[in-house]
Amino acid sequence: MPNTHDTKNNVSPSEYAKFDPSTIHQRLNTSLSRPQLNSDGSIRHFLGVEGLNKAQLQAIIAKAETFFDENGQLINRPELEGCTVMNLFFEPSTRTRTTFEVAEKRLGANVLNLDIASSSAKKGESLRDTLWNLQAMTADIFVVRHSASGAAHFMATEVTPDIAIINGGDGWHAHPTQGMLDMLTIHREAPRPFEELSVAIIGDVKHSRVARSDISALQTLGVKDIRVIAPRTLLPKGIERFGVQVYEDMNSCVRDCDVIMGLRIQNERIGSPLLASSSEYYKQYGITPERVALAKPDALIMHPGPMNRGVEIASSVADGPQSVILKQVSNGVAIRMAVLALTMEGQRAHQANRG
Ligand code: CP
Repeated sequence: MPNTHDTKNNVSPSEYAKFDPSTIHQRLNTSLSRPQLNSDGSIRHFLGVEGLNKAQLQAIIAKAETFFDENGQLINRPELEGCTVMNLFFEPSTRTRTTFEVAEKRLGANVLNLDIASSSAKKGESLRDTLWNLQAMTADIFVVRHSASGAAHFMATEVTPDIAIINGGDGWHAHPTQGMLDMLTIHREAPRPFEELSVAIIGDVKHSRVARSDISALQTLGVKDIRVIAPRTLLPKGIERFGVQVYEDMNSCVRDCDVIMGLRIQNERIGSPLLASSSEYYKQYGITPERVALAKPDALIMHPGPMNRGVEIASSVADGPQSVILKQVSNGVAIRMAVLALTMEGQRAHQANRG
């Protein structure tokens, strides 16, 4: 299949890993390769929250709200009837893959889940060849998770104009639907508006695509007080340039906070030069009942999952009255319905403009 796109402006994985906001924002939205927005600002591909403005993020939240009834229950609406969505998860996932599938079915789409473990990717077929073969089968949206930072952007530069890419998490770079479901959860559950919130993010920011998307979305939505804490080895160089405050002491970090967000520690890092033992980590950075008591009395406890109980967070906190961790999962269905529906709208607008 011919590839006529200019790919010289593709963002390499190493560029994404540098956590350089100006490069990433500019290239996601204005690169010659394939922008994530149509010229009217509608979504062409959903690759990252970086570069989306406050009104665009609010529109995604507002769209997600339309999928709840007056009792707060999710409703079905066949906005994707006749559309085909393929879920291409090259990395393991419980929450993202399943909530995308639930969202797609609630929208009435035809859904196909590629089983990567038994696909020809295991025989060494390249990502580009896998993509070209799947698009030859005809689809409207590919939802992609991949271990390589920049994979979703790469796919957006490669697909034919009638397919949209949604990023389900790429390497360390971005997890935009997780970022948006976290924003929906805060919007629904926090007693104060974004502009008045103090948010503490705790854990492995360096290797976390969730942290990158959350920090970007929180700032765009007006949060001024974003605090981060982790062992120095788990903080990326240049984190201060994002306008977050780096804390050394966990008690100070969570004091008077409105939201405490834990991040997953990857087990393979425990006991490595990056991270001492899990018990030492828990002692210094664990989200414990004593520390939660230092935050505002109505503070929300969040975690994207999967959680390491007793390392990042005490079970009594994870399952306690302030925890919204399972609400994050439920909100993930609504936000993915919104992103799928808005992407399909943008895709139709893109097709109409091509004439
Ligand atoms: N939060 C999240 O991305 O979880 P999964 O890896 O299970 O999708």
